[in-house]
Amino acid sequence: MSALPTTHPFARFTGPQGAPTTLCRADALRSMPRDLAAGSADVVVTSPPYNLDAAYGEYDDARPSQEYLRWIGRVGRCVARVLAESGSFFVNLGGPPSDPGWPWEVARAAGRPFVLQNVIHWVKSIAIEKASTGRTSGLDRDIAVGHYKPVNSHRYLNSAHEYIFHFTHRGDVELERLAIGVPYQDRSNATRWGAGRSGLRCRGNTWFLPYPTIQHRSSDRPHPTAFPPELPERCLRLHGVGRIRLAVDPFVGIGGSAIAALRVGVPFVGYDIDATYLTETARLLERAGAVRTGETPDLAAPVDRGAPRARERMGNRGRRVEGRPTPGLAA
Ligand SMILES: C[S@@+](CC[C@H](N)C(=O)[O-])C[C@H]1O[C@@H](n2cnc3c(N)ncnc32)[C@H](O)[C@@H]1O
Repeated sequence: MSALPTTHPFARFTGPQGAPTTLCRADALRSMPRDLAAGSADVVVTSPPYNLDAAYGEYDDARPSQEYLRWIGRVGRCVARVLAESGSFFVNLGGPPSDPGWPWEVARAAGRPFVLQNVIHWVKSIAIEKASTGRTSGLDRDIAVGHYKPVNSHRYLNSAHEYIFHFTHRGDVELERLAIGVPYQDRSNATRWGAGRSGLRCRGNTWFLPYPTIQHRSSDRPHPTAFPPELPERCLRLHGVGRIRLAVDPFVGIGGSAIAALRVGVPFVGYDIDATYLTETARLLERAGAVRTGETPDLAAPVDRGAPRARERMGNRGRRVEGRPTPGLAA
């Protein structure tokens, strides 16, 4: 079986560095195991729906919790099958202020076949006081940077971070920490800690990755839960670009991971059930220098999803009441 899928192709591209990108309009759970040979993906980097009632075009993001947790468990098993023995599964998850344990519940269900090797905190916004940063920071004033969606509550803090759970089959995958390393601020520390000529140190597990400021949500970021391409790009670099024969995103949305794979020059396959998001992904790929090499988007074609889409909308364990992000306020 080829590493690249043949079912439900939506569009295919070649990136500036010659790596192929394939987008599939399909239910990843059904198509991924059919399309991809066992062990053929070196990195799976994704952000699945979190079941927080996000306003997706096609997908119903308000399923009964237990049903959702069973589904995300199937996602984990699917990924385990296609992931190489030495592969990395990076899964980005967030939760509402009113249920901060939710991402961990989801991670536990999705990560059952794996060992949790790292937990990374995706910091979207942070305030740093100059006085706390020391002599060598270069800061000349206090700063508050990044964006978050403010919540309308007296009980909960605004949520300015999400998680990236890094799963591997046995917890023993060596990473290229310095591929995303940061320069030592104080060169004497570089000598003391034996950093060698690179002058870099491990970035650690807090990654500040702000959303770019946008003017018009619907045209500038037409997806309710997209991550910036820098997030999957960092994951790919951390795993080690030279070791990636294929990267996969089962829930590609508007293509942050596809753009990341294009930038680092690795073959990529992305799935989404929503043709509108895939069309935007295709547009962004072409804008980033990819050349379309095949397939015509068939917007009308039904997606093979097994079960009917319409699901009962039910209270989501109170998450949609207090603490729900105020839509439209953040960049
Ligand atoms: C959290 S979003 C991913 C956002 C993406 N990381 C981005 O940057 O745009 C989850 C995506 O999964 C898609 N989706 C939901 N169920 C799916 C399924 N069974 N197979 C493939 N895609 C699915 C939704 O349409 C949505 O775009």
